[in-house]
Amino acid sequence: MSDFIKIATKSDLPDGGVHAVEYNGRRIALFRAGETIYATDDICSHSYAELSAGTFDADDCTIECPLHGSRFDIRTGRALTLPAFAPIDVFEVRVEGEDVWLKVTA
Ligand code: FES
Repeated sequence: MSDFIKIATKSDLPDGGVHAVEYNGRRIALFRAGETIYATDDICSHSYAELSAGTFDADDCTIECPLHGSRFDIRTGRALTLPAFAPIDVFEVRVEGEDVWLKVTA
């Protein structure tokens, strides 16, 4: 069963911004590219690094890991460059007014 929870507001995310949240003990990174907001795991699939501390490129929707520099497509979670090769999870996001909702699986 899945549901949406309110996880942030748009004011937490200026255009081109990144915002990390925690839900059920899991860190999740939110990214804003224009009017679209994406959500992924905040922890890199290679080792322990918080992707929200990396370099976000809103134009090509990628995040570069701050530790070893792997890049991930935040739309699909796919690892684009080594040393990471495993994808990161992506989550469905819904925006209603100022509220940002995240789809979670119960
Ligand atoms: S921890 Fe992210 S690339 Fe190594």
